[in-house]
Amino acid sequence: MSAQQPLRVLTGITTTGTPHLGNYVGSIRASVRASQQPGVQSFYFLADYHALIKCDEPARIQRSTLEIAASWLAAGLDPERVTFYRQSDVPEIPELTWLLTCVTGKGLLNRAHAYKAMLDKNAAAGADPDSDVTAGLFMYPVLMGADILMFKAHQVPVGRDQIQHIEMARDMAASFNHLYGEHLVLPEALIDSNVALLPGLDGRKMSKSYDNTIALFGPREQLRKQIMGIVTDSRAPGEPKDTEGSALYQIYRAFADDAEAAAFAQAFADGIGWGDAKQQLFERIDREIGPMRERYQHLIAHPQEVERLLLAGAEKARALATPFMAELRHAVGLRSLQASAQAQSAQTATKTVAASFKQYREADGRFYFKLVDAAGQVLLQSRGFESPREAGQAVKRLQTEGAAALASLAPQLDLDASQPDAPLRQALAQLKV
Ligand code: TRP
Repeated sequence: MSAQQPLRVLTGITTTGTPHLGNYVGSIRASVRASQQPGVQSFYFLADYHALIKCDEPARIQRSTLEIAASWLAAGLDPERVTFYRQSDVPEIPELTWLLTCVTGKGLLNRAHAYKAMLDKNAAAGADPDSDVTAGLFMYPVLMGADILMFKAHQVPVGRDQIQHIEMARDMAASFNHLYGEHLVLPEALIDSNVALLPGLDGRKMSKSYDNTIALFGPREQLRKQIMGIVTDSRAPGEPKDTEGSALYQIYRAFADDAEAAAFAQAFADGIGWGDAKQQLFERIDREIGPMRERYQHLIAHPQEVERLLLAGAEKARALATPFMAELRHAVGLRSLQASAQAQSAQTATKTVAASFKQYREADGRFYFKLVDAAGQVLLQSRGFESPREAGQAVKRLQTEGAAALASLAPQLDLDASQPDAPLRQALAQLKV
C-alpha cells in the first residue's frame, strides 16, 4: 500500500440487543484500540438496516441503536478520529446494494451459510424449504457488501462466522469491476486470533442465546451480583483451586495484566475462597468499566448527544459516499440524458482507462512500451526497441490482433515482468480495435 493512502478499516455492528461483557472483550475493546493507531482510517457503523432482518420491534431497534452507540462511545471510540455513523443515515448504501444485486449471481447467495442453515432447519422440520426465509435474509450479504465497498475498505475486522460474507463482497466487487471498470476495492477479512472468547456465567461461551451474559454497563451492584453468580466447583476456602477450566479465572485474565493474572493464579493455588475470588474479579472489572459506565449512563440519559454525533458521522460518511455513488451511477449508465454525446465518449474512455499502452524512452536510449491497467498494474512489459516506430508497430499489432500476437512478439516482450495471463488477455480483448 502506498504511503499516501491510509489503510481503511471498516466494521459494522448489528443493532439488536445490548452489549455484554463478552462483546466488550471480544470486539469493542480491541476495535477502539485499533482505531487509535496512526495511519489507519476507521469506519464504524451501526448496521440498523441489517437489524431489520432479524427484528420487527421498532422500539427495540431504536433502543438497541442508542445502547450500542453509547457503549462504543463510552468505551473510548473517538468520533473525531473515526467515522462513526448509522447505516440508515447513508441512503447511498441501499442504492449501491441494488447495483451490486444486479451483478451478483443468485447461486452465490444460495451458498450463504445463514441462508443454508435456514433451509436445513426447514428440511429437518419437514417444512417448505423457504419457510420463514425473507428476501432480506437472502440479500443480507449484498447489503453487507455495499457497506464495505462503499467506503473502499481494505480490511474488515469480523468474527470467523463472517468470513464468507467478506469473500462474497470480494466476488461482487470483482464482477462489478469486470463489467464497468476498476471502481471497487476488493476487501479482506481481518480475524484477530488473539481475542479471548469470554466464558459466561455457566462456563460456556458468553452469548445471549445461552442466557449466560454479564451486562457491560449495568448498574455497579448488578455487575457484583452477576459475578457472584458465576458457576464454580464445590471446593471450600483453604482448598487449592484449578485455574484450568475456571470461568472465573478466564474472565479475570481478560482484564488483568500478566502480573495480576499470576497473582490471581497464586491465590487459587493458595486456596482462596470462591467468594473472595469473585470479589477480586468484580473489583478488577469495575476498575476498567467504572469510568466508562458513568459516561454510558450520561449518554443514555442524553440521547440527543448521541444523535448529534451520529448525524455528524453520517455527514462525514456521505461526503465520501455521495460523490462515489455518482461515479458508480455514471459507470453503469444511470446518466443524464442531456450528456448523451459526452456519455458516449466517456464510455470509450472507461474502456481505454481500463487498460492502456504507454510508450516511453529509457535512460539506455531505447524505446519501450507497457500495458497498464486502471489501477496502475503493469500487465505487459516490452523489451527495448531501436526506434519508436518499431515499438509503435508492436503496440499496433497487439491492438489489432490482440492476444494472438503475443506468441510471435514474445522475443520482444519481457513476459517475466508481466502479470499473469488472464487479466492481460482480457485487457487485450477489450482494447482490440
Ligand atoms: N454481519 C455483521 C455481523 O453480524 C454486521 C455487519 C453488517 C458488518 N455490515 C457489515 C460487519 C459490514 C462488517 C462489515 O457481525
